[in-house]
Amino acid sequence: MRCGAVLCFLLVLPLALEASVEAQQSVSKPRAHLSYKKLSLRRWSKRFSLPGVVDGDYRILLLDEDLDRVFLGAKDYVISLNVNNISRLPLTAYWPAGEDSKEECSLAGKNYEGECGNFVRVIQPYNRTHLYVCGSGAYHPVCTYALIGARAKDHVLQLTSETWESGKGKCSYSPKLDSISLMLRKELYSGVYLDFMGTDATLSRTLGHRHPLRTDQYNSRWLNEPIFLNIHMIPDSGDHNDDKLYFFSREKSAESGSQKSVFARIGRVCLNDIGGQRNLVNKWSTFLKARLVCSVMGSDGIETHFDELQDIYVRKTEDLRNPIIYGVFSTSGSVFKGSAVCVYNMADIRMVFNGPFAHKEGPSYQWVPYQGKIPYPRPGTCPGGTFTPTMRSTKDFPDDVVSFIQSHPTMYYPVYPVQRHPLVVRTNIQYKYTHIAVDHVSAADGRYEVLFLATDVGTVQKIMVLQKEGLNTEDVLLEELQVFKPSTPILSMKISSKRQQIYVSSSAGVAQVSLHRCNIYGTACADCCLARDPYCAWDGKQCSKYFPTTKRRTRRQDIRHGNPNTQCQEDNHKMQRKFPAMVQYAVEGSSTFMVCTSRSPLALIKWFTHKTGEEGRNPVKRNKRVVQTDQGLLIRKVRQNDAGHYHCLAKENDFRHMLGRFHLKVLQASAVGGVLAGDGDSSTSLTPRSGYRPHPACPSYIQGRLRGTAATMAKLRLLSAKERQRNRRAHHHIVPRQT
Ligand SMILES: *[C@@H]1O[C@H](CO)[C@@H](O)[C@H](O)[C@H]1NC(C)=O
Ligand SMILES: *[C@@H]1O[C@H](CO)[C@@H](O)[C@H](O)[C@H]1NC(C)=O
Repeated sequence: MRCGAVLCFLLVLPLALEASVEAQQSVSKPRAHLSYKKLSLRRWSKRFSLPGVVDGDYRILLLDEDLDRVFLGAKDYVISLNVNNISRLPLTAYWPAGEDSKEECSLAGKNYEGECGNFVRVIQPYNRTHLYVCGSGAYHPVCTYALIGARAKDHVLQLTSETWESGKGKCSYSPKLDSISLMLRKELYSGVYLDFMGTDATLSRTLGHRHPLRTDQYNSRWLNEPIFLNIHMIPDSGDHNDDKLYFFSREKSAESGSQKSVFARIGRVCLNDIGGQRNLVNKWSTFLKARLVCSVMGSDGIETHFDELQDIYVRKTEDLRNPIIYGVFSTSGSVFKGSAVCVYNMADIRMVFNGPFAHKEGPSYQWVPYQGKIPYPRPGTCPGGTFTPTMRSTKDFPDDVVSFIQSHPTMYYPVYPVQRHPLVVRTNIQYKYTHIAVDHVSAADGRYEVLFLATDVGTVQKIMVLQKEGLNTEDVLLEELQVFKPSTPILSMKISSKRQQIYVSSSAGVAQVSLHRCNIYGTACADCCLARDPYCAWDGKQCSKYFPTTKRRTRRQDIRHGNPNTQCQEDNHKMQRKFPAMVQYAVEGSSTFMVCTSRSPLALIKWFTHKTGEEGRNPVKRNKRVVQTDQGLLIRKVRQNDAGHYHCLAKENDFRHMLGRFHLKVLQASAVGGVLAGDGDSSTSLTPRSGYRPHPACPSYIQGRLRGTAATMAKLRLLSAKERQRNRRAHHHIVPRQT
């Protein structure tokens, strides 16, 4: 007698699951989890990595949707990938650091492999045919141009080797200090450290015809050991003179003293700033910053702050002046682990920048709103804009404006998120969110926000946020994709709504996944509807991509409630009819297990029974002997009065449906031997055959027990072969389905 897979399953499960009792419903469980292996096997992900490179430091992603390319900055390489399939015909340009620089870097005590490469950290569009690219150049930053052609079919990537420019002020020396950059009208705005030691942080403007600009040097009121994260141009009014550059960072808070506390920051400068007079020659004269707050109020009245800003996503709206700003934060304390997403609108941000300036009399004083006379034009105002139409340039700013901004660059009030509450909060989690991208999806019953959150454990979570009555929101974790192995933090993420793809990178490579995989939710209308994925709808045959333009009545979708009762009536009736009861035999005194699993981890499963000789249907009473697990119902030491009809029901979003029906027949232990003997087949006796070999799938600890019972079980299976044949159709629906 061999331990067949099914038999092993029947026996191992009850033992292994004795400990894990009762599946609890939890909102943080994804509707669908896709493992690293499954993503690859089912071709749901496409991948790129440099052959033979273990840690490529693939950190910079730039999407070019006109050229249909994804540009990638890695260690010693600039790479150009096909936006539709990043595995297809990649173009690579090798760009190592100079030998001299590498040697100096190594002599200066830097790690040769880890730091003395050319870590490409700037990739920006320059003109119709070229990119501007910069790398750390083994602590000797360098920049150059890369020919990429003007049309998709040009299929070219070539670095202009004769023009290597200094990368100082454009790319940090150390690969450990991230740089941020934005090319606007052939001028490069950067947030970098521009010295070898990594102590001189600056927001700078280089390239172009104007004199380079930087922030006030070593002025911790302006920048205090910042970690630069993002940079965006956002117009402030219809007048281009008011255009501003916003940058996002986290930095040491000024008042921290001995405590190591961090603040999230939003800062800004005017694009038409050309520096001031006196102390601010060739330095920004419109520089202001404010704190970004993302916090939750506990029931005990204690506010928990998420101060470690990790990433910002700016979602454009029809009004270019008012994009929506999404920030992903984590806590800085080591005791309490958590991440949160907060949303800010430009009206609130502008109100803070138009509000009072923060002021401090001396080191031992508190920060207060500045009460004195504010010079004209108001510090931070752009020259020639709506408020100062007659002022031609920042060089015309009076001295009091210059000295005010040098000493008061911080706003008194922080920027609070919309509704003063995070959109998503996760606490007591073992990972943190590192990047965010947002899509706005049109579904049958409205538009929905879908967040893609990348983590430091190689996953991307797809979360839908629902606005509830009042100010409340509900988030639904639709999918969790293990894009990289769990040891691999995600370094960068970009979304293309046009192509319906996200691109994520890590030290291991780049992966591309679609925004949706509707068929994973199941093969029934109810499964599709319960998933509440706004990208998906039931089309009458399967769960497939929902296109808002196709006005077909047969498309079934209910994102708001996820209620199949209203959407899938015909299909539900069909489903329920497919469930004849399955006959299951158990031997008195032994254990039996009725398998019932739900495709959805969010479903709550309930068991009911109609016992032989009893009235009506009752919930199954659970105790030490009758145990409900994720996989089904375990009855130990079966008694005669356990016999009867059983069925299990799944409940999700107020929708109930049947998952399985059983008719449990209990055989007397003494009778079993007789029945088996009468069978007349020598191989079915209760003693194992001499040729018995433990099956490798069965853990050794249960094989001892197996010897006795395996043969019995095999007999019972033989005995009920006929019934099983009859039940095959039903059985098909209750074995755990593979997703
Ligand atoms: C992507 O490109 C690779 C390499 O050319 C190819 O093997 C794969 O089939 C392509 N995938 C799709 C979905 O086109
Ligand atoms: C783009 O800039 C590069 C580098 O300066 C230059 O060689 C090239 O001619 C420019 N292309 C166009 C179309 O202006």
